[in-house]
Amino acid sequence: MQLLSVASEIYPLIKTGGLADVTGALPAALAGEGVASRTLVPGYPAVIARIGKAKVVRRYEALFGVPATVLAASVEGLDLLVLDAPDFFAREGGPYGDHAGNDWGDNWRRFAALSRVGADIAADGLKGWRPDVVHVHDWQAALTAAYMRFGPAHAVPKIVTIHNLAFQGRYGADVFGQLGLPPEAWGMDGVEYYGGVGYLKAGLVSADAITTVSPTYAEEIRSPMHGMGLDGLINGRVDRLYGILNGVDTAIWNPADDPLIPKAFSGRALAGRGANRRALEQQFGLDADDAPIFIIVSRLTWQKGMDLMVDALDHLVGLGAKLALLGSGDHPLEGAFLGAADRHRGRIGVRIGYDEPMSHLMQAGGDAILIPSRFEPCGLTQLYALRYGCLPVVARVGGLADTVIDANAAAVAAGAATGLVFAPSDPLALHGAIARTVRLHGDRPVWQAMQRAAMRADVSWGQSAARYAALYRSLLTAAA
Ligand code: ADP
Ligand code: GLC
Repeated sequence: MQLLSVASEIYPLIKTGGLADVTGALPAALAGEGVASRTLVPGYPAVIARIGKAKVVRRYEALFGVPATVLAASVEGLDLLVLDAPDFFAREGGPYGDHAGNDWGDNWRRFAALSRVGADIAADGLKGWRPDVVHVHDWQAALTAAYMRFGPAHAVPKIVTIHNLAFQGRYGADVFGQLGLPPEAWGMDGVEYYGGVGYLKAGLVSADAITTVSPTYAEEIRSPMHGMGLDGLINGRVDRLYGILNGVDTAIWNPADDPLIPKAFSGRALAGRGANRRALEQQFGLDADDAPIFIIVSRLTWQKGMDLMVDALDHLVGLGAKLALLGSGDHPLEGAFLGAADRHRGRIGVRIGYDEPMSHLMQAGGDAILIPSRFEPCGLTQLYALRYGCLPVVARVGGLADTVIDANAAAVAAGAATGLVFAPSDPLALHGAIARTVRLHGDRPVWQAMQRAAMRADVSWGQSAARYAALYRSLLTAAA
């Protein structure tokens, strides 16, 4: 089976979050299920720099008014189709905005262009190649499904995956006239959304199947609280909604063989973590003592509960624990964490920025990772943490609830506990979870048993890749 994926990020070429991890890892996992993927991504500078020898496989004299080509290239085992449209993508900054964090004003056009090209490839194929199924990710690629539905590729099965319903790609009604969609695409059953244009909404009404990245999030988004205005639509299409849990690339995230950490270790040889712990303490200027080290590797945002976290720092330090934080995001939160590090030298270390290698060291040397998210479609950092024996302390939402087994008395007795789960996502519960973690950490046999259980948990793509492949096949059968 031939699959075309469309996405705005892919690891290891361009990443701002978990979406890239997923689009980067899924192709190899799907290959094991007999699905060959090609992934269409924008030609940002970071992508163009990596693709080396590439073949032009499609040309546009004017794609939304600018010249563009599609390049085929293979990078790090990924079969890529790169939309090289310098007017749209050859920019300093991030994939969605400038260095200061302001979104590009023409994002509506940049990602409509990406989606238009996805639909064109679905319709025409490329020389000697044609996708059987098209799978698109998040609002940036969602319009692909709408272009397909209202164009020649309408019969090709199309799947939209929601990685985060909080980002929807909403623009003014004036944009519609420039999208090149037929008039009938306007309206409740099309791209129209509360009087404007909604890219994700358009994808959700056009797709043959909607997936999201955990079973619990698939339930949560049916309610007004997590549905972000789309719960009505989602409930109307619930027969086409699937929650398929993300996995992780177990070759890149492998404590027994990770070039990014000072010392390899395994569940049987946990002692190796000690060297990583010391390296972590040094990197973050933390006191060298036996107190538990919490880590945070996160976007610093409201979604991630980072404001709750700021308010819990004195409590954490008061309990004798330490914290190493790596993250970037909302400037007031960045400032608040830096301020706390100043107040609590040796106990709190903070790095503002994005540092992939450092995130490996933190998982390998930290004792517990704090994830107090208000909502979390899946979450990947708790999965990396499980694999590295860094116990996740998580809010009971979305994929966090699906992947961590709380250390209640019964689970501990059964040897099943892999972390700590708290609810609701509020200060009181977070304080309680931090205190409970510190107590548990003091009980070495129990703590180590939990580490081993965590490291045994299956966080691979295995089962989930099989579920995606089964979904593709069922849609193909239905379309035939
Ligand atoms: P989200 O996509 O909502 O940000 P996920 O947990 O799914 O959350 O994925 C986040 C990904 O980004 C993980 O791979 C995590 O390790 C990584 N990450 C987040 N912040 C940083 C950072 N400051 N430095 C390095 N990696 C980071
Ligand atoms: C989004 C979500 C996160 C999820 C990731 C990959 O960024 O916020 O929970 O893990 O996508 O699916």
